[in-house]
Amino acid sequence: MTEHTPEDLDPTGRDLRQYTDELRPQHAVVRNTSGQWVLLRHADVVAAAQDPETYSSRVSAHLQVPNGLDGAEHRAARETLDRYFEPQALAPFEPVFRDIAREMVARIPVGVVVDAVGDLGAQFAVRAQSAWLGWPAKLEPLLLDWMRANHAATRSQDRSRTAAVAEEFDDIIRSVLKPRRVMGDRAPNDVTTQLMHDTISGRPFTDTELVSVLRNWTGGDLGSIALCVGVLFAYLADNPEIQRRLGDDISDADLDAAIDEILRIDDPFVSNRRRTTCPVHVGGTDIPEGAVVKLHWTSANRDEEVFGDPDRFDPAGNAANNIVYGTGPHVCPGRPLATMELRIVLQEVLAARQVTPAVGDQARREVAPVGGFHRVPVVLRNRGTSERTRGRLD
Ligand code: HEM
Repeated sequence: MTEHTPEDLDPTGRDLRQYTDELRPQHAVVRNTSGQWVLLRHADVVAAAQDPETYSSRVSAHLQVPNGLDGAEHRAARETLDRYFEPQALAPFEPVFRDIAREMVARIPVGVVVDAVGDLGAQFAVRAQSAWLGWPAKLEPLLLDWMRANHAATRSQDRSRTAAVAEEFDDIIRSVLKPRRVMGDRAPNDVTTQLMHDTISGRPFTDTELVSVLRNWTGGDLGSIALCVGVLFAYLADNPEIQRRLGDDISDADLDAAIDEILRIDDPFVSNRRRTTCPVHVGGTDIPEGAVVKLHWTSANRDEEVFGDPDRFDPAGNAANNIVYGTGPHVCPGRPLATMELRIVLQEVLAARQVTPAVGDQARREVAPVGGFHRVPVVLRNRGTSERTRGRLD
């Protein structure tokens, strides 16, 4: 074990993966500039995620439902909240998301440089999320601004900035809840209203709990979907053969497996924190009780001990060890929603367009602890035309 600073990377946007790929074979555990212990290897990350007695999720001073809960309290919250992601709850949104994706594909210009994160991912994420939660369209520009401010605050690692951005978001959420309360029975019957009338351990949610749940849902949905779309399009632009395969007539299950595998290779959801409840010995390192430990999903998902060459695209072979959505009791409840949204975006874009790199315009990486890309310049071309003229475009 040595002292390293994996969260303090070159702000010009060096690929975080290169750095953790260099560290991981020598160091199972490193310490970042904030003094947190970062687990880099797959086996250690999985073991910690599956041992909530030793690695507690009560890390933040703020209430976080369900992320910051442990034990019975956490199980009760998940029992209520997981129902919102069951197949019958999500099925009605399939055609809605498809319409949003189709409309977006029709609107995005062909043959010019567009940003897969800002122009595609963020636009789709905000519209899909508003449709899912039943939030008014007039909030969308506000949510997009907030998403940018949130990433900038996270990058800055300035606590007062992140607190201010969180407060801003809570105000947005309260602005959605308030009119529904006034309307009473006349409130629209959507996911937000259902949640407001739902119960946890047989009692209604408190206001603070409601805001926290919606913050965690939208945090997962908005930011992560936009980043995932950026990663997927960057990868497909660079790997035309895989893009061609995914654009052809493949089953939803095969497409989902391919999406998971691309996200494993380049996981934009970097890490989650835990607090040790006793002294632990992990990866040859002694970590004291009460220490903050980071489960580094991006690094663990590229562990050569488990995946061999981490860049080898092998959806079937790597699926069992893929931990893009975590593992253990806090495993991502939003996975079915995320998978559905990402599948629909890919299907609709690839049905009509070919995604090609923007020549001479480099993608820009996000700065840790935000993962993925800040900007992914690509050029969309009409599929029919580009295939007829393949080889003459670039
Ligand atoms: C877009 C891709 C997404 C990725 C890669 C992702 C990844 C993850 C991971 C790795 C965890 C585990 C955290 C931990 O162990 O501490 C997690 C938890 C969580 N995710 Fe996601 N997520 C995504 C989308 C979503 C969506 C769409 C939602 C909800 C709408 C969501 C809501 C949550 C919540 C509430 C938790 C906390 C669960 C708990 O603590 O019990 N996520 N996610």
